[in-house]
Amino acid sequence: MSLLSPKWGLGRSLLALSPFFLVAPLIALKQHHSLPEPETALTNARTNLPQISEARVLGYAKYLSENIGYRTVGTYEHAQADAWMVEQAEEAKRNCERVVKETGRKLQCEVWRQQGSGTHRFDMMGKRLYKSYQNLTNIVVRVSDGTDAGKEHALLLNSHLDSTLPSPGAADDAISVGIMLDCIRVLVDTPGWSPAYAVIFLFNHAEESLQDGSHLFSTQHPIAHTVRAVINLEAAGTTGRELLFQATSEEMVEAYSHVPRPFGTIFANDIFNSGVLLSDTDFRQFEEYLDVPGLDIAIVGNSYLYHMRKDLVENIEAGVAQNMGENTLALIRHLTAPGSPIPTLVANSSHKHKHMRVVYFGLMSHFFMYRFSTAKVIYGALLLGSLVLTRSAWRGQRRGVVAVMSGLLGSLLTPNIVALVMHRVLGKGMSWFAGGHFAAIALYAPATLLGGLASQLFVPTTDEKTVFSSILLLQTATAFGIQLFNVGSAAMFFISGLPIFVALLINNAVLTTRKGEISLWSYALGQFLPLLTGTLIMVPTVEVFVPLVSTSFKSQTNYLCENGSNIDGLCRPADSGDVPADNIVATIISVLGSQAVPLAIPFAHRFGRKSLRTLVLLLGAATLMNMAIYMRKDVFDEMHQKRLFVLHLENVTTHEQHLHIASADGAPGFHELVRDISNEFGSGLTTAEPAPLIMNDYNSDWDSLYPFSAFLSPYKIELPRDPDYISPWTARETSFILTAVNDVTDLEAGTRSFTLQVNHPGLIWTVIAFDAHVLKWNLDNNPPTEYARHHVKEASFYKADTWTLDLVVKLPEDGNRGILFNFIGLQEKAMWPGKMAVKAEGGPAMKLFENLDSWLEEKMGGTMDALLLGCVAGTTVV
Ligand SMILES: *[C@@H]1O[C@H](CO)[C@@H](O)[C@H](O)[C@H]1NC(C)=O
Ligand SMILES: *[C@@H]1O[C@H](CO)[C@@H](O)[C@H](O)[C@H]1NC(C)=O
Ligand SMILES: *[C@@H]1O[C@H](CO)[C@@H](O)[C@H](O)[C@H]1NC(C)=O
Ligand SMILES: *[C@@H]1O[C@H](CO)[C@@H](O)[C@H](O)[C@H]1NC(C)=O
Ligand SMILES: [Zn+2]
Repeated sequence: MSLLSPKWGLGRSLLALSPFFLVAPLIALKQHHSLPEPETALTNARTNLPQISEARVLGYAKYLSENIGYRTVGTYEHAQADAWMVEQAEEAKRNCERVVKETGRKLQCEVWRQQGSGTHRFDMMGKRLYKSYQNLTNIVVRVSDGTDAGKEHALLLNSHLDSTLPSPGAADDAISVGIMLDCIRVLVDTPGWSPAYAVIFLFNHAEESLQDGSHLFSTQHPIAHTVRAVINLEAAGTTGRELLFQATSEEMVEAYSHVPRPFGTIFANDIFNSGVLLSDTDFRQFEEYLDVPGLDIAIVGNSYLYHMRKDLVENIEAGVAQNMGENTLALIRHLTAPGSPIPTLVANSSHKHKHMRVVYFGLMSHFFMYRFSTAKVIYGALLLGSLVLTRSAWRGQRRGVVAVMSGLLGSLLTPNIVALVMHRVLGKGMSWFAGGHFAAIALYAPATLLGGLASQLFVPTTDEKTVFSSILLLQTATAFGIQLFNVGSAAMFFISGLPIFVALLINNAVLTTRKGEISLWSYALGQFLPLLTGTLIMVPTVEVFVPLVSTSFKSQTNYLCENGSNIDGLCRPADSGDVPADNIVATIISVLGSQAVPLAIPFAHRFGRKSLRTLVLLLGAATLMNMAIYMRKDVFDEMHQKRLFVLHLENVTTHEQHLHIASADGAPGFHELVRDISNEFGSGLTTAEPAPLIMNDYNSDWDSLYPFSAFLSPYKIELPRDPDYISPWTARETSFILTAVNDVTDLEAGTRSFTLQVNHPGLIWTVIAFDAHVLKWNLDNNPPTEYARHHVKEASFYKADTWTLDLVVKLPEDGNRGILFNFIGLQEKAMWPGKMAVKAEGGPAMKLFENLDSWLEEKMGGTMDALLLGCVAGTTVV
């Protein structure tokens, strides 16, 4: 037996292989966490050319998120950000004009402050939804060579200035605003630079209200029709390299391949398009209304802080802004240079992602891209080659396939059993949450390996080389098969199939002396790349999914309210912790994990049952120990907080005030928390245990968050009444009221037409919900052709406090023409902590929030981020 094919025992073999198996993930992690040095200076000391300055970018982000603060659409701060942005744009323009004057360069900067109103349909989470907006704004800067020809075809860059309800939005999306401003500076200050194609910088001022700003630009701006491609800059996190997660044309992917540090895979693209992630960006509006292709790019690491109070500059990792800035700048330079594909990208709906047919992925410092047609040929050739190479093992394939399939099943089941036990039996669900993606991987990866190997104890003894061949055939056939359906993620299977093929080829030709033998080195060779790419895919995927489970995954069990126990809208307490978050995370890790270590299965057949049994016992012990350790962990901590949703709701119809509390995750302990809050802050009149309410389309309490509200398990607590309180919302001049104007009933035609007018002084983000058979309205041209429930949400500029809806409805059979409207709005001055500075003006809601927030902070030790909103609601028949 030669050194080339050692037949060592299990321990010695593992020891020999361990360097390879440690190095591969380490290289991947190093790559994943690499960020450039942040720059402070505006010019590069060596080249004397202008450069992206992280310090400057973060300076803008800090001003927006801290000096101005929570820029929720419709608030005073939102209006301040609008004014600030106009100033910045004008300053950029002045700099541009100075440069032109000094150098005579072909360069022009133009500035628009667009203001307008509109409506659009915005379906989300399977719900039909409409938006109406009044007087919202966008700030637009166009940089061109000053000629008509140069402005005919333009590249659009988009970021949003506003922030969402509970967040100062430093990463989301002030950092991108800063990056776009800094790109303008660098481009204008670069000697000799002149764009062959114009670049339009859209500082969009209403994204979080459901993409009204990008809708306004796309449908109404005078230069919108010149846009040929879009690059959208977003954030759902605060660390790491920004991810290209949506690309919709080959030309744009090609352009992206020129950035200094690309980070994007077709896999991310496929996941996003599958819709499992509940996020959506302005990109959707550009696709829908401008019909142009583009790139959607976002900072995604550590999304624990996404839409939280802690989305602050101090929590943005050093180098993030530098990286995103340099990549963005490179894209702009490439796409505005002569020879750019921009003029060829005419609006054409076939650009939409469904039709993009290229595979792309970054692997170490290389960025690979090839067409689907090429992929089919290569993957087909590899499959064919594998068939030929493994022909001697064809006969035993039945056993080999059984072994491999059992392995996959075992590796899928075991971590899921661990998840179930942790969550259901031990009541320790989401124990990995605060530890982040590494904690989740550390819990479920050993269980995955355990399941894969243990399963092999139950299948007939199979020849090692046969199983090795089966793995190869399975990987290559899967790659080819999936690619036939034009799913680019097939590349994952190709990337692991290829090295296994090469390993087997070398194995047969060089490494072994006897037929039917697998050299130990073939494992090192065949497993290195899958482990590397597997880590490169698994780490960011788990990184994105783990924090999301606190908001987005919710099983239906909570809404199942048996009719019998449904008294007055109350259900029996549902069993807490009904979110399958543990299983979702376990499944992701097991699927990607077994794909990263495909050769574990043949390896299990290398040493005989006895050694395998020892290995399984060791892994089993490790898994149990793991569970014991995780049982002791707290789910949330200060940087991995629980999201709590709280409304102070004044009902102007009943004059009652209630506190509404909801959570979106299934972590244990929520019911007890609500009981404590009720005891502390409730009226004391409701003696019974607080009970969860039904959440459905008719629960209007949470319409401000509709349709996201479907994820909430809400409770309602009666608040004590202050006998001296006089509601401002029912006083004559300031009342929140719905009225019908131009009300005409046509009995003959059986229709009623009217304009619904909503007056909402001091209230923002109003929502109305009603049941009617609408024949016509000004929202769009195709209302549902039946009696149905409708939700219309409004978002407007500061102090724009009326909006209208034109309706023609079918009169019901019973002749009752009145329509019952539910309406709700947020008090512009009662949002905690956004309005802390003016808390005295926020009425009883702010008083309560101040106390409740500090009470929560103390009780929960800072592990909770509460969104506290003062709402005013009612019902009226119009
Ligand atoms: C849109 O693009 C497709 C594919 O590139 C092309 O066949 C078609 O003619 C284009 N349509 C228009 C209206 O330009
Ligand atoms: C509740 O009652 C309605 C009407 O009787 C019925 O359609 C529905 O299926 C019932 N729901 C459940 C959960 O039993
Ligand atoms: C306000 O009170 C009315 C009348 O009881 C009720 O129908 C409505 O659901 C309440 N509104 C909200 C948002 O709770
Ligand atoms: C929108 O702005 C225009 C012009 O400033 C103003 O006349 C109008 O009243 C505003 N609309 C609302 C709803 O406030
Ligand atoms: Zn955003």
